[in-house]
Amino acid sequence: MKKICIIGVSGKLGRYMLQHALDKGYDVTGVCRAQSVDKLSPWKDRMTIITGTSNDRDVIRQAVSNCDGVLTVLVPWGVQQYASGTAQAVLDFAPADARLVFSCGWHISRDGKDVYPLSLRMMLPVFTFFARLFRFADISDQVEACRRIFSSDRRWTVVRCSDIEEGESEGLPVWSQHVGDPVLASNRTRRIDFALFMVAALENDSLIQQAPAIVSCKADSALRHEAEH
Ligand SMILES: NC(=O)c1ccc[n+]([C@@H]2O[C@H](COP(=O)([O-])OP(=O)(O)OC[C@H]3O[C@@H](n4cnc5c(N)ncnc54)[C@H](OP(=O)(O)O)[C@@H]3O)[C@@H](O)[C@H]2O)c1
Repeated sequence: MKKICIIGVSGKLGRYMLQHALDKGYDVTGVCRAQSVDKLSPWKDRMTIITGTSNDRDVIRQAVSNCDGVLTVLVPWGVQQYASGTAQAVLDFAPADARLVFSCGWHISRDGKDVYPLSLRMMLPVFTFFARLFRFADISDQVEACRRIFSSDRRWTVVRCSDIEEGESEGLPVWSQHVGDPVLASNRTRRIDFALFMVAALENDSLIQQAPAIVSCKADSALRHEAEH
């Protein structure tokens, strides 16, 4: 892996992924909106920045050409099909053998076998309703983006993160196939480690066409699981 692209690089997850990727010696191109370029000033001399909206197919075509890997932050923000438009463009334009890693949350289910905590079951419909009402987010578009990825024969991974915390790294998160698996019960991951898992997935072929649900390796449920196995 030499050259990678990060789509959504100026966001909180994106900047952590950028730092991890530079630490690994990757040649990084990042896509971000024009109004967010200043957020990348600490790294601007060590990366290539392409400005534009991530659902602009020409922007993505330019950004992902010649990349060995693409890290895409899938967000439900706005109601302009950012998530599905971005995912489709990455699937269409990334080189055939590129590793494609996408971020989302536990609310995305690949096979309907996830068993969600009560808090998520109650919160999601409320958030979805108000997000659509006030047109600041469209969860169904993130669901559609993942449906397209899951049905693709590309070398994809969809990383499904638990609730996010800020703070120092606790190490590479552990993962399981389904939300509801005991190892995931603590439902917490540091954002910096979410990014670590995304970047590590680029070189982990066992994650190809998988949708790992992740949790901090230091979470109580992960430590309990480790002690029992
Ligand atoms: N929040 C949680 O508790 C949680 C839990 C599990 C998983 N996740 C996942 O974590 C990822 C988000 O990570 P994050 O922390 O980096 O989020 P973030 O800081 O909110 O930013 C994510 C991206 O969204 C862009 N963005 C923000 N507002 C926008 C708008 N109105 N229109 C278009 N683009 C907009 C940002 O671009 P700019 O820099 O240009 O603003 C950035 O590239 C998502 O995949 C989400 O599903 C989140």
